[in-house]
Amino acid sequence: MSGIKIIGMGHSVPKKVLTNQDLEAMVETSDEWIRTRTGIRERRICRGETHADLCVRSAQQALACAQVQPEEIGAVIVCTLSADYLTPSAACLVQRRLHLPEDTLSFDLNAACSGFLYGLHTMECLLAACPRKFGLVIGAEALSHLVDYQDRSTCVLFGDGAGAAVVQYRPEWPSIHAVLGARGDAGPLSIPGAGRGLPNTVSMDGQAVFRFAVETLPKCIDAVLSAAGLTPEDPDCYVFHQANARIIDLAARRYNLPPEKVAKNIDRYGNTSAASIPLLLSELWQAGTIGPGSRVLCVGFGGGLTWGGALVELGVRTNETAQ
Ligand code: UT7
Repeated sequence: MSGIKIIGMGHSVPKKVLTNQDLEAMVETSDEWIRTRTGIRERRICRGETHADLCVRSAQQALACAQVQPEEIGAVIVCTLSADYLTPSAACLVQRRLHLPEDTLSFDLNAACSGFLYGLHTMECLLAACPRKFGLVIGAEALSHLVDYQDRSTCVLFGDGAGAAVVQYRPEWPSIHAVLGARGDAGPLSIPGAGRGLPNTVSMDGQAVFRFAVETLPKCIDAVLSAAGLTPEDPDCYVFHQANARIIDLAARRYNLPPEKVAKNIDRYGNTSAASIPLLLSELWQAGTIGPGSRVLCVGFGGGLTWGGALVELGVRTNETAQ
């Protein structure tokens, strides 16, 4: 035993909405194709707002929700592949803008769409050793800067947004039972970096990633349930990476999960990579669908290729000295 609970959440999305109808005017596509193949109706894109703005707004909401002060934070991890700068990291920008103490461990983590779950696990390990037992894990993306809006096979899929979680570590709390992995391969999904001599926009073999996702989701669910000693009926809710509504529905059917236990917001935001899981968790918390005491089984999958699953428990802040 020893682990973290999420004790507060927040989220932020850019104001600018890009609808399927807008995309019909930009590439040869149709609202009908996008909705039936992906479940997406619209997405948000950063225009005049920065990645750091999304991080800061979502983190401020999460801190207020958790009733945690900035000076209590021991570490901040921003899970992202689309920050404003390669350096300074998005986490450093958050450290400064939120006035977190200068000895706060602040760094970005890139595990693509699995990033938030990699981030939670990393935070769980870090806080065990950190004198301050509260941490901020933010999933944030401004993917609209890395999308080629002439490539209909990718530009209809991605959107921008952020979700933030304030977590607390206590030795007597259970672990999140994270199951994480990677199978390095740039073929199915990549964004070239400087030096590759290629445009730094998303390219994806959609069908290959679809197959990978459909195989990976049940493996992660089974591994987390087994590690936590639970059956599929036990979690209060399931939150999967929002890449395609068809992938989510296939997993739900396989486990016979009632629709009200399998949350989705892909219709409004598209695929927001590392932001998708915390953005949905935060919306569910604000809507009262989940809250302190809920156990949520989360699974992410994507570029790398990477995958991650965890049983996330929500709670309320507990004083360090309390039993
Ligand atoms: O976050 C990382 C994880 N990412 C994922 O999990 C994504 C997984 N993949 C997918 O979600 C799906 O593969 C896509 C949504 C990307 C594509 O759906 P699909 O059913 O696999 O379509 P497809 O790639 O097989 O393309 C079918 C047809 C093609 O035309 P032909 O060759 O049959 O004539 C495409 O050219 O649809 C065409 N097409 C489009 N048509 C209208 C591709 N993109 C579009 C478009 N609008 N935007």
